[in-house]
Amino acid sequence: MAKIASLDALEILDSRGNPTIQVLLSLDSGAIGVAKVPSGASTGKHEAVELRDGDTKRYAGKGVRKAIENVLQVIRPAVLGIDASEQQALDATLLTLDGTANKARLGANAILGVSIAAAKATASERNEPLYHYLAPRDSYVLPVPMFNVLNGGRHADNNVDFQEFMIAPVGASTFAEALQSASETFHALKEILKSKGYETSVGDEGGFAPRLRSNEEAMELLRTAIHKAGYRIGSGIAINLDPAASEFYEGGLYVFSKSDQSKRSSGEMIELWATWLERYPEIYSLEDGLAEDDWDGWARLTQRLGPKVQLVADDIFVTNPEIFARGVQRGVGNSILIKLNQIGTITETLHCIELARRNGYTAVISHRSGETDDTTIADFAVATDVQQIKTGSVCRGERISKYNRLLEIEHELGQKARYAGKNVYSKWRHSQSQTR
Ligand code: PGA
Ligand code: ZN
Repeated sequence: MAKIASLDALEILDSRGNPTIQVLLSLDSGAIGVAKVPSGASTGKHEAVELRDGDTKRYAGKGVRKAIENVLQVIRPAVLGIDASEQQALDATLLTLDGTANKARLGANAILGVSIAAAKATASERNEPLYHYLAPRDSYVLPVPMFNVLNGGRHADNNVDFQEFMIAPVGASTFAEALQSASETFHALKEILKSKGYETSVGDEGGFAPRLRSNEEAMELLRTAIHKAGYRIGSGIAINLDPAASEFYEGGLYVFSKSDQSKRSSGEMIELWATWLERYPEIYSLEDGLAEDDWDGWARLTQRLGPKVQLVADDIFVTNPEIFARGVQRGVGNSILIKLNQIGTITETLHCIELARRNGYTAVISHRSGETDDTTIADFAVATDVQQIKTGSVCRGERISKYNRLLEIEHELGQKARYAGKNVYSKWRHSQSQTR
C-alpha cells in the first residue's frame, strides 16, 4: 500500500510562456510523482474547464493560483493517507470533490495534475517505468507518430486555413527509424522553403508557418519534401491532416478567411475532402474535417469517407466518454483523439480508449499546443496500446521530449518492442497502392 504523504502544487510556465500547474505528490515510502499540465489553443467548447484566475493584473488573467489553492486546500486534505495505486478510487474522489459535470469548481488542470502525479509516484515507488505500471505486459507496441510540420489556422499567422499538415512515417520498421525519417523530411522541407524564399520560423508546435498561396500548396510542399528526403510518399511517409474545422465554422458555413475567402456548406466540405483524398492518396488520416457543432455533417462525412480514411474526432468528442458514446450511436468518425486535459482524469481517459476499442474506433494520444517537458503521454501511448501519437513537429524541446522518451522506451524494451507501422491503417489501406 502506497499512501499519499504529501501534495504540493506551484505555478510554472508552458511552452507559450503562459502559466500552468505543476503538481508534486509524494508517498509515505518517499517516492515522488511530478505532473505538469498542458494547455490548448484551439479548444473544443465542451472540454473540461481549465481554471484560470481571471485577474488581469497577473499574466493577463491566465494565472492558475486558484487551481493551486484547490489542490492545496480542497484536494490535499481529502487524499492524504489514501492509496495512490488505487487510481480509479482516487479519480472518483477527485470527481466527487469537484461535484460539477465539467470540473468547473476545482479545474480540470488541478484535477489532472493530481491524477497523473499519483500514477507517476506509484510507478516510481515500484521502480517501474510508467508505461509498465499502467499496463504490465511482456511486450509493447511503439506508436506511429504524426509530426505537425506545416501549420496554418489558429496556430500560425499565414494564408493557410487548415491548422495542421502532419507527416506519419508508416513505412519505418522501428520508432527510431520513424523519427529519423521525419527529421530528415523536416529538414528537407526547411531547405525547400528557403529556396522558395519562404519563412522558416516555427509555430507553437514546431511546424513551419510560411505565407503560402493556398492550402494545396502546403500539400505539394510536403510531397516534395518527403521525396527529397528519399522516402516514398504514402507507403513510406503518409500525410495526416488536422484542419481543426471548428475554428473556421461561422454561422453554419465553413469560411476560408485566411486564403481565398470562399465559403462552403457542410456538404461542400465533404466534397472537398473527397476530392483531396482522390488527389492525395497519401492522406491516411483526417482529424476534425468538420466542426464540433456539425453532428449531421460528421455522420455524413463518416458514411461517405469512413471506409477510405481514418476520421479522427477531436473537438466534437473532447475525450468525453458520454459525448463519445453519443457519437458512436450517431456514426460519427472512426477514430478519437485523446487529450488527457480535455477530460481531466486518467480513469476517464482510459474509459474513452476502452469505448473506442469496443466500438472499432482507433485512438490517437495527443499533446496540446501549449506544452511542458512532461513526457507522460509517451508512456501513456505505449501503455494503452493505441499505436498512434501526435505530439508536434521534429523541433522544440517540449515536443522532442516526448519523442525522446519514446526512443528511450524502445531502447529499454529491446526485443520486446515492436513499431506499429502501417498496420495501424491497414483497415483503410489493404487493397491500395499508395506510392507514386
Ligand atoms: P490545441 O490544438 O492543443 O491548440 O487544441 C491541437 C489540436 O487541435 O489537435
Ligand atoms: Zn485537433
